[in-house]
Amino acid sequence: MNDPTPPTVDYPLPSGEHGAPSPLFDTLRREHHLARIRTASGQVTWLVTRHADITAIATDRRFSRDLTRGNTVALPRDDFNAVPGGIFNLDPPDHSRVRRILQPHFSPAAAGALQPAVAAHAHRLIDALAQGPNPADLVAAYSRPLALHMACELMRVPAEQRARIVGDLRVQMDTVAPSVLVGSSTAHLLEFADEVLATPPGSGPVAALTRAHEAGTISADELRGTVMYLFLTSAEPVMGPTTTGVYTLTRHPDILHRLQDSGDSDEPWDEAVWELLRFHHNSNSSLPRVATEDVTLSGTTIRRGDHVITPFVAASNDPARFKAPHKFRTGRAAAEDPQVTFGSGPHYCLGVNIARMHLRTALRTLWQRLPRLTLAVKHQDVPWEPREFLFTRPTHLPVVW
Ligand code: HEM
Repeated sequence: MNDPTPPTVDYPLPSGEHGAPSPLFDTLRREHHLARIRTASGQVTWLVTRHADITAIATDRRFSRDLTRGNTVALPRDDFNAVPGGIFNLDPPDHSRVRRILQPHFSPAAAGALQPAVAAHAHRLIDALAQGPNPADLVAAYSRPLALHMACELMRVPAEQRARIVGDLRVQMDTVAPSVLVGSSTAHLLEFADEVLATPPGSGPVAALTRAHEAGTISADELRGTVMYLFLTSAEPVMGPTTTGVYTLTRHPDILHRLQDSGDSDEPWDEAVWELLRFHHNSNSSLPRVATEDVTLSGTTIRRGDHVITPFVAASNDPARFKAPHKFRTGRAAAEDPQVTFGSGPHYCLGVNIARMHLRTALRTLWQRLPRLTLAVKHQDVPWEPREFLFTRPTHLPVVW
């Protein structure tokens, strides 16, 4: 039975136990098609928790991702939504024009071309780990530096240059950081994009965007905003899943042993990565959308100008779609839609192939080199980021091998 009065909940939502999605998603999904959520800045907007509603909104042209035209929702505050022209904030056909330029640099073939470099960095980091103290913190020794190396290879910038924005990225992921701090970090990230564009790399996504701008295919704002978003996205989203991947596989030794015995085939690891991403997901929220006209969804009218938040983690844990969603198990049917972890519709994650390759390489190489690696503490004692941090991930992961 659906309660006709949508409840209002406060952001950030309560955390789930040990990196599980917020339990509030289950309650809301069961009892209400749509809920209201009060964001950190006090605005009240719509919150959607069912797979069917989330994918319907993400693929419905009546919902726009361009929140830069004023009346913007602040979740997180002045961040992803504040940069006009950036790929996150474009709607088709402008979005398709910019995305088409980037697509070849994020294809399965491009991910395959990047794989040997990621594997080489993984081996170097494991060499250092093996020579240092045992136990050690996997986040500091492996998950974080490997993500940074991958992002530098992808974006063709030196690690020392990219290191200058690490603090700004942390602020962007803090969904209750003071607006003034978020605003200055956004400004700094845009200056960084300008600096990279002053002497652009000769190849890769930044070079492709630069050439498209010179040819008049994309505007100066589209160039600058999209380069900024690529720096924002390339490393941060894979750090958490590398760590939660190790955390979860050590808690499911039967699955881990099957993977370790699976020989040269990528397939079992690929399948495990889909399920690892579904199980913990990565981000506890999603990019808001705005209704460009009145839309009636399951009997409730979302008014033109209303904002809607569609956490893909709520979709990937909906029991209407996933059998026993709170269970980690490989071999789920494709019909369950594991892809929804990466979104749906035109803004479906551009980095999906790179992210999957990165995680497969990171996890597989780690256990190839250190086959007995496991947690050095009880899983209940692993510390997680606070619920206001955009990504659900441990701050540290003590491991022993
Ligand atoms: C496991 C890691 C990742 C996850 C779970 C993830 C998830 C997502 C999701 C859910 C969206 C859609 C947001 C929405 O429509 O509300 C998205 C978009 C995007 N992601 Fe990822 N992502 C990951 C890694 C990456 C990586 C490594 C990159 C590399 C640059 C990347 C780049 C992007 C970009 C540029 C978009 C916006 C695409 C567009 O607007 O057309 N992501 N991602």
